Amino acid sequence: MQETPILAFDVGGSFVKAGLVNPASGAVGGAVLRRPTPAGATPVDVIDLLASMAGELPSDGPVGVAFPAVTRHGRAWTAANIDTRWIGTDAQGLLGARIGRPVAFLNDADAAGLAEMTLGAGSGRSGTVMVLTLGTGIGTAIFVDGRLLPNTELGHLEVRGMEAEHRASAKVKTDLGLGWDEWAAAVNEVLAAYHRLLWPDVFVIGGGVTENWEMFGPLLESRAEIVPAHFRNEAGIIGAAMAAAALPPRDGGVGDQAA
Ligand code: BGC
Repeated sequence: MQETPILAFDVGGSFVKAGLVNPASGAVGGAVLRRPTPAGATPVDVIDLLASMAGELPSDGPVGVAFPAVTRHGRAWTAANIDTRWIGTDAQGLLGARIGRPVAFLNDADAAGLAEMTLGAGSGRSGTVMVLTLGTGIGTAIFVDGRLLPNTELGHLEVRGMEAEHRASAKVKTDLGLGWDEWAAAVNEVLAAYHRLLWPDVFVIGGGVTENWEMFGPLLESRAEIVPAHFRNEAGIIGAAMAAAALPPRDGGVGDQAA
């Protein structure tokens, strides 16, 4: 695996992060840039932003992009928290042509999961590991004996008549002004629904909100073990860098390999 720093992005419903990541160690060199996601998050505006952030972080070689949608063969196929024009957009091709570099384009939770399973909280774990990212939405990545089932999208599972991410994302906490107790109860309901269906051995909880793990981690309950993501809010860029480092010399992507 390539050890020179790789430019990686994590496109969120609220912010876009970019950093230079050593894919072998997961270390992020220098500052992580954080810019508000353009209003509406249209493909044109987001690609413009990624290209301009790339200019701020001089590097060469492949680029990784973690994206909040189902991704297959370099294209986005859903748009829960982004503009619907993303559906079917060849993000890998557009960004690749714009910056003249190969691009790995993968789901954000799958990217975070990849980082956690390789070097973080899930490393060395066999059995079923479910990585969750609690942010604008809820991202899910399921690994069985270390192997990813891509694009699981269980943030949209209906839990008591409401999509899981409308009940318990970090955005819901902010939007409704929920206290930690109240929000943790909502997360617990979602964990229980996932556990009923999938019986994971462990939940790895990630997303920006884990910076406050001590406020809500002890309130979480499940029949499965619960651990915080090791890479916290940087898991997305680290996993995206790992996916970029794993690109075959010419083109491709994690979605392609896994699809
Ligand atoms: C999207 C997923 C994404 C998750 C976290 C959901 O709304 O459908 O693809 O992984 O948000 O960003």
